[in-house]
Amino acid sequence: SEARKVVLTEDPQLPQAVKSKILNLAPLRDQRVRVRGWVHRKREQSKILFIVVRDGTGLLQAVLSGRVAQTYDALTLTLESSVELVGKLVEVPAGQTAPGGHELVVDWWRTLGAAPGGAEAFTNKVNEDSGPEDRANLRHLVMRGETASAVLTLRAHLLTAFRATLIKHQLIEVTPPCLVQTQVEGGATLFKLDYYGQPAFLTQSSQLYLETCLPSIGDVFCIQESFRAENSHTRRHLSEYTHLEGELAFITFDELMDHIETLICESVDILLANPHSAALIKQLNPDFAPPARPFKRLSYVDAIAWLREHGIKRPAEDGSGGEVEHAMGDDIAEAAERRMTDIIGTPVFLHGFPAELKAFYMKRIPGNEKFTESCDLLMPGVGEIVGGSMRMSDEQELIAAYRREGIDPAPYYWYTDQRKYGTCEHGGYGLGVERLLAWLANRFTVRDCSLYPRWPGRATP
Ligand code: 4AD
Repeated sequence: SEARKVVLTEDPQLPQAVKSKILNLAPLRDQRVRVRGWVHRKREQSKILFIVVRDGTGLLQAVLSGRVAQTYDALTLTLESSVELVGKLVEVPAGQTAPGGHELVVDWWRTLGAAPGGAEAFTNKVNEDSGPEDRANLRHLVMRGETASAVLTLRAHLLTAFRATLIKHQLIEVTPPCLVQTQVEGGATLFKLDYYGQPAFLTQSSQLYLETCLPSIGDVFCIQESFRAENSHTRRHLSEYTHLEGELAFITFDELMDHIETLICESVDILLANPHSAALIKQLNPDFAPPARPFKRLSYVDAIAWLREHGIKRPAEDGSGGEVEHAMGDDIAEAAERRMTDIIGTPVFLHGFPAELKAFYMKRIPGNEKFTESCDLLMPGVGEIVGGSMRMSDEQELIAAYRREGIDPAPYYWYTDQRKYGTCEHGGYGLGVERLLAWLANRFTVRDCSLYPRWPGRATP
C-alpha cells in the first residue's frame, strides 16, 4: 500500500538530539532528545499513534502523527518491540496527563527489534489468566510489568539504603564464601554437594565467618546469598535468599536489639527521603508508614503467656489434627507467630528463647541459663524478618555445645580459635532481604521479592 512506502530519514537540519534515559528527561524540556526503550502500551486515536515506552528508568509517552505514523514499522508495531525515538520533548497540553508531565513529539524513529504478534504476542504469554506456574516459567517476561519491575527497583534502593546505614555506623562490608564445610543453622536444611571428592555445603549463613572478622577489621556486615533446603512451600521461604548479616564486638544484648532497630528505621528514612524510592513505596504500598520507635520487646516467656491468653493454639503432635495450648518450651510456629504479629500490629522483638530451640552458638542469659540472649524481629503481615543473638564467648562452653549437638568440632577449629585468641562478648543478626521487602512493598509472598526465586522444585529460569 501507499503507506508502506513511507521511509523516514532523520532531518539533518534539525538541532542535534540529546541522548537520554527517561529518568533524566525533565531538564531537557523543549529540546530535541533521543530515547531508546520498549513499547509498553500503545493506542491509536484519529490516525495519531500514542506509544508509552519504557527503558527501566521510567515511562515516556510518545506521539506519532503524519508521516512518522505511516511507516511499515508504525503499521506493524507490537508491544514489547524495542524502538529508538527522536523528537521534541514538550509539556503535555493542559488537562492531559502523561508520565513525567511531558511527551515526545516524534520527528524520526525506528524499530530496533520487533516483538512477535499473533499467537506469540507478549500479551498472549503474560496476561491476567497466567497461573502461578506460568508466571514462574515466564519470570523473565513477567518482570517487565509495572509491579514486578517496581519491586525489583525498590529492592535495589533498599540494598543501597542498608549499605549507607551500616557504613554510617562504621560496619565494614566483607564477602564471605558460599561454599563451606561447616553448618550454622542445623543439618536439616543443608544443601550438600561434592567438592573435589570432599563433602561441602552451600552456606546457610555467613555468621561464623563474620565473627572471625571482629579482631581483624572490626564490626562487619555482608549481603550474601544463603541457601536452605527447606521443604516448606510457604509464602516466606525460599531455597536461596539474600541474607544481610551483621556482627558487632563488645556490645550487650540490648545494644544488639537497638542496632537492628536503628538499621531498619534509618534505612526506611533514607528510602522515604529519596523521591524515586518514596514513589515506588507509594505505588506498591500506599498505606505504608514508618514504624514507631522503640520497637516493642516481648520475652519468650511473656509471649507464651500472651498466646494462651489470646487462645492462639498450636497443632497437636499426636497426629490427631487437633490443636493444643502453647506451653513453656514450645517452638512458636509460623502460623501462631504471624497471628500474634498481626494482632499486635507493630514490629515486635521476641527475645530470650529456650536454648534447646536455638542454634548451638547462642549465649545463655546469665543467671537464667535455660534461656538464650536471642531475638527474632517480627513484622506485621510477614512474621520473622530478623534472627539474632549474642554468641558464646567462652571456649569450653562452646566445645560443650558442639558435643551436645553432636557436631564434630574438628572442622570448626577456626571458629573455636576466635575464643582462644582473645575472646570478646559479641553478637549479630541475619535479616532476610526478601522478607523485609515483602513487608515494605506489601507483597503477599517473598517469591515476588527475588529476581529469580528458588523454591523446592524450582531453579528455572
Ligand atoms: O534465623 P536465621 O536462620 O538466622 C541465622 O541464619 C543466623 N545465623 C543469622 C545471624 O545471626 N548472622 O535466619 C535469619 C533470617 C530470618 O529471620 C529470615 O528473615 C531469613 O533469614 N530466612 C529466610 N528467608 C527466606 N527464605 C528462607 N528459607 C529463610 N530462612 C531464613
